[in-house]
Amino acid sequence: MDQEKVLVIDFGGQYNQLVARRVRECNVYCEIYSYKTPLEKIKAMNPKGIILTGGPNSCYEEGAPTASKELFELGVPVLGLCYGAQLMQLVLGGNVERAANREYGKTDVIFKQGTKLFEGIAEHNTCWMSHFDYISKMAPGFEVIAHTDNCPVAACQNTEANLYAIQFHPEVLHTQNGTAMLYNFVRGICGCAGTWRMDAFVESTVKALREKIGDGKVLLALSGGVDSSVAAGLLSKAIGNQLTCVFVDHGLLRKNEGDEVEAVFGKSGRFDLNFIRVNAQDRYYSKLEGVSEPERKRKIIGEEFIRVFEEEAKKIGKVDFLAQGTIYPDVVESGLGGESAVIKSHHNVGGLPDYVDFKEIVEPLRDLFKDEVRKAGLELGIPEKLVFRQPFPGPGLGIRIVGEVTAEKVRMVQDADYIYREEIDKAVEEYKKAKGENPSWLPNQYFAALTNMRSVGVMGDERTYDYAVALRAVNTVDFMTAEAAEIPFAVLQTIMSRIINEVRGVNRVFYDLTSKPPGTIELE
Ligand code: XMP
Repeated sequence: MDQEKVLVIDFGGQYNQLVARRVRECNVYCEIYSYKTPLEKIKAMNPKGIILTGGPNSCYEEGAPTASKELFELGVPVLGLCYGAQLMQLVLGGNVERAANREYGKTDVIFKQGTKLFEGIAEHNTCWMSHFDYISKMAPGFEVIAHTDNCPVAACQNTEANLYAIQFHPEVLHTQNGTAMLYNFVRGICGCAGTWRMDAFVESTVKALREKIGDGKVLLALSGGVDSSVAAGLLSKAIGNQLTCVFVDHGLLRKNEGDEVEAVFGKSGRFDLNFIRVNAQDRYYSKLEGVSEPERKRKIIGEEFIRVFEEEAKKIGKVDFLAQGTIYPDVVESGLGGESAVIKSHHNVGGLPDYVDFKEIVEPLRDLFKDEVRKAGLELGIPEKLVFRQPFPGPGLGIRIVGEVTAEKVRMVQDADYIYREEIDKAVEEYKKAKGENPSWLPNQYFAALTNMRSVGVMGDERTYDYAVALRAVNTVDFMTAEAAEIPFAVLQTIMSRIINEVRGVNRVFYDLTSKPPGTIELE
């Protein structure tokens, strides 16, 4: 694509995608390349700027990732971050050594005033440090522009050569004004106009998908969630009906969800693709009969999905590509998966399905964060209702019904959940009308679950012995920890009375106050 571009050169650091994301936030297009990319290729891309990322190594060690001196002599502004900063200094004649103590965490950094890189940054600013090594001697021509109590060179520059080095991480949110620093680099120093928008991502991805797929056939499992829907939208735009989407309705979706997905992607929808809806409710319910152990339920639902998908794939015959809606946080999660204990068998990333005959995987959203995926979805004309859908687990209502799943219980939880969402939407709308903003209690995820508890109640003059619904609502940043949301009591009361009046088989409503940890967000 013929547009200004910043290259992010990857030295293996954990925040590299975050660097790219921050650059995109400045409306500048960027691409990530390995540090092994030949200089000629870098030159040919004609970048407006280059950012060298952090990395786990020590740059003076033998075999550590390196960069050639010529990279700094292209006449293109270069910004080194952490490892990238140290490497720049070492390659250009400075020195890097191991410090006596590791500097880690939020650190007060003192900034020289009046520099281009730190324009608008106060003299004291909290930054995120994470390093063992430090720049003990700067390369010739450089001057210090930031320091800390322990680190004599927290940042330095050579304005004549347009080279900048920052020891801390401006890309992480713990660094105050970090995005402003990257903005100063890409917009100020590199002179990028900042004209890049999500539509450009859509355009370039569509073009790349066309080139890669040619006239091949692509198969995508569409769940109706945000990620697979946006992947479907992109692929449809790129290759039209060379794409086949298989949507398995396992009978464990939210109320009306199957029809909503079909309305968008089916025959009368706006996308050009082959849409296959498999109504597999009965199969699922009979497989789940008598099963109450949560992990067992997850396994059955997952395996049955594979069986259904396999059967459909066999009907289609050989495909060239299997598409997946993997997004960047999934990639990270699966990469770290080996280190952490399995609490619940989540997310189907990592393993490639071996039950479909295909040549290659395509993952058009692999570099995007969730909010960027949503922007791309809106760009593609996918309805807001679908784009801003809450996270919904693959096993669906199967893990929101504590204990055995039956069609009757699915109906109860669907109806209760529908009322819950309807009333929250109403309360949020009213609040927004009055105050012009979202209420602070607005949960990131909320849903009704059906407990396995039956209790005695009275309705009219009749004794009842019915199920209890649990309302869950959490505020969370990353879904790893969460707090119960403080939904106003009056709103909860309205929801309670509607559920008890309208949902047959339910006579009690609980509000779940448990935080995560020790609870999890889902009940199973
Ligand atoms: P937990 O219950 O683990 O949930 O605190 C954290 C987030 O993950 C979702 N979740 C799942 N997603 N398959 C999924 O695709 C699953 O089996 C699953 N279990 C939980 C949950 O909705 C929440 O957003």
